[in-house]
Amino acid sequence: LTRIAVFASGRGSNFRSLARAAAADDFPGRIELLLSDRKDAGALAIAAEFGIPSAVVEDGKPRGRLSPASEASLLAACREAGAEWICLAGFMRILGAGFLGAYPDRVVNIHPSLLPSFPGLDAQGQAFAHGVKVSGCTVHLVDAGVDTGPIVMQRAVGAEGARSADELAARILAVEHELYPAALRRLLEEPWERRGRRIVFTRNTEVGP
Ligand code: GAR
Repeated sequence: LTRIAVFASGRGSNFRSLARAAAADDFPGRIELLLSDRKDAGALAIAAEFGIPSAVVEDGKPRGRLSPASEASLLAACREAGAEWICLAGFMRILGAGFLGAYPDRVVNIHPSLLPSFPGLDAQGQAFAHGVKVSGCTVHLVDAGVDTGPIVMQRAVGAEGARSADELAARILAVEHELYPAALRRLLEEPWERRGRRIVFTRNTEVGP
């Protein structure tokens, strides 16, 4: 089983969906560790519920880039847990080249928009304010930019009739909870290649008669 560490800053509903999926007998990975940058993160209680070890690495400020020292602590914890893949689940921090270099193409994130539209903070609010008719969510590999890495899977979510950004966010979140475990399973169990910024699941490239 592939060993996974999940990073979460907040509520942790995506972490819960990953933990639930990973508890299935046929899931190709196991969550070894939950790391948070906030000691008040709801994700910590979820880790306890699932019997997943957790740790908090507090950084000076609540958002943005991590200090080199915090990043080194996170990396050390991942290595100690033997983590091979890292899943960001509502982790509101930017990982630097030091961390990403240790896990090349092995850090995954979920973002609540159809990237490259609406990267960064409050993607659902940005989409609602823009008046989109369709939004969605994206699972992507993490690179040095903010929400710019190669796309693994996306799902569209209708935005018509949503009366607020919160209503749109709730619609998207329900789909995030399906997409993230599905995308992670696919990355771990199907053959794939990275061609430039394109992720190609090679089993599906044959076109039938
Ligand atoms: C989710 O909507 C996730 O896509 C988003 O934060 C929320 C976390 O909720 N992530 C980002 O915006 C990352 N840029 P959760 O803590 O309940 O999983």
